[in-house]
Amino acid sequence: MTFARLIGHAAPYRVALGIIALLMLVQTASVLVLPWLGGQLAAGFLAEGTLAEDALDTDLILIGIIVLFGVRSVLAYAVSWKLADTAARIVTDLRQSAYERVQMLPLGYFRARRQGDILSSVVYEPQYLSQFLTMTLPRFVPNGLAVLGALGLMAGIDPLLASLVVGLMPLFYLSVRLIGRGLRPLASRLRDAHADLVSVVDENLSMMPAIKGFTRETREARRHLAIARQVQALEVRQARLQAFLDGVIRFLAVVAMVGILRLLGERVTGDSLSLPEFVSFLLYAAVLTSPFAELSGVWGQTQRARGALTRLQDVLGEPLESASGLPQMTPIVGRIRFQDVHLTYTGRHAALRGANLDIAAGQTVALVGPNGAGKSTLINLLMMFDRPQKGRVMIDDVDIAEVDLQSLRRQIAVLSQTVLLFNTTIRENIAYGGAGENGGASEAEIEQAARRAQAHDFVVGLPEGYDTVIGDRGVRLSGGQAQRIALARALLKDPAILVLDEPTAMFDPEGEDAFIADARAAFADRTVLLITHRPGSLALADRIVTLSDGVVTGDTGGDPLG
Ligand SMILES: Nc1ncnc2c1ncn2[C@@H]1O[C@H](COP(=O)(O)OP(=O)(O)OP(=O)(O)O)[C@@H](O)[C@H]1O
Ligand SMILES: [Mg+2]
Repeated sequence: MTFARLIGHAAPYRVALGIIALLMLVQTASVLVLPWLGGQLAAGFLAEGTLAEDALDTDLILIGIIVLFGVRSVLAYAVSWKLADTAARIVTDLRQSAYERVQMLPLGYFRARRQGDILSSVVYEPQYLSQFLTMTLPRFVPNGLAVLGALGLMAGIDPLLASLVVGLMPLFYLSVRLIGRGLRPLASRLRDAHADLVSVVDENLSMMPAIKGFTRETREARRHLAIARQVQALEVRQARLQAFLDGVIRFLAVVAMVGILRLLGERVTGDSLSLPEFVSFLLYAAVLTSPFAELSGVWGQTQRARGALTRLQDVLGEPLESASGLPQMTPIVGRIRFQDVHLTYTGRHAALRGANLDIAAGQTVALVGPNGAGKSTLINLLMMFDRPQKGRVMIDDVDIAEVDLQSLRRQIAVLSQTVLLFNTTIRENIAYGGAGENGGASEAEIEQAARRAQAHDFVVGLPEGYDTVIGDRGVRLSGGQAQRIALARALLKDPAILVLDEPTAMFDPEGEDAFIADARAAFADRTVLLITHRPGSLALADRIVTLSDGVVTGDTGGDPLG
């Protein structure tokens, strides 16, 4: 069951939940004393002036009622606060598990989905759950307990009438289920529409220059409106269904109440009930009415929470990028072998069709070939971002599919073709490549990497130097500057294997020349794979390998050991 897993997440908080349950019990007890006091009060009023012996003093009862309400308020406050606190912790745990899980999914998962959908799962679903735990549960549980208690006490006064009330309960439940059965699918569609909306806004925010450049503001506004209208329509349908259900249930509750009143009237005139009993019974019936009336709201919120929980569990159940417990990669010397690797992306023609390449440790190999030849794909295999459907990739004498992913990736630095930078300072972006758990590097290391990437000079020319914040994905830098920072970050990693996918694609000629002049020092003592379309950069290579249409078609130094 869906909610059973939630209990698993709640297990670490059993002490807090125990306290909450206890508070709720006391809260319920205070609710249930009230009708009894009401009965006593009626008896007291009747007895006034008649000197009836067993009647309590009415003033005392009234004070008791006030005190009771005070206690109830304090308890309600304590329960709400404690529950909100605990629920927030549980939701944080869930949120964190979902986020951490997402980070462990293969890149294919992200390519196959819109960012907005993933955002919805990780950010918004926990939000729904939180609402359920902090708003719905604190009302539902004490109400449920009050119903049970009231029924028990009513049975003590008039067993027959009480069992009649019990007999009505399935009727309520069935009505809610029947009328409310549309709520869950509706909630799920609403959630999808919400995700669509988030996706559009999310994509368009990063596409602003394209939208403006092609003057497609009107078109995008229309697209947004269409989805916003969908959300609106679904929200209205949901609210309408909920309101209808609410109305029916409240009406049924009143009808049931009137029926009970009628029977109660007969019994009190028939003398089988005393007046205080009558008043108490009536008030217990009133205690019952409000939970019943709220049943539909609780039902709706529960359906929505179930949906959210299901989605979260879908994410938590996604297959991970790799099995855990694989052996650590040994310190890499640097020989790389692609052995007959095949890779076909879903729904595409083969990107690699049996590529073979043997690179000796310490070699610098330039990889050339037309757009779409499979060069970047080869690098994805080396980083285990993708796995070959056939063939294998060996580093030194290890099949990289059989080692711990992170221990492999820690020893390889890749400058990807698309520049990926964080919206933080230049210093932090470069230091991201540093060794250790959280990255980080000394000033000297950062500066050396920046010099080798031909970034240092322009960085110190900025008003804020290395402390310059570069905007989302580096939008506050020029294309070439951003690429230089990304290159510095890769060089700082100081890896056994360095992969540069078009490192100088956006460099100016002087910058590229300077990079080439400095690069030999950076390339020494490691295996370097250099993908490039630039003739100048080819001079750095010991060997040039041509990839065409997913296979190696040319090689200036086929025998790496020769
Ligand atoms: N994530 C993906 N999903 C589907 N197809 C992809 C994906 N990535 C690449 N491809 C396809 O695989 C083929 C090889 O792409 P790859 O990026 O390896 O080419 P490349 O040699 O790096 O080209 P370029 O010089 O343009 O960078 C192309 O036909 C491309 O359309
Ligand atoms: Mg490429």
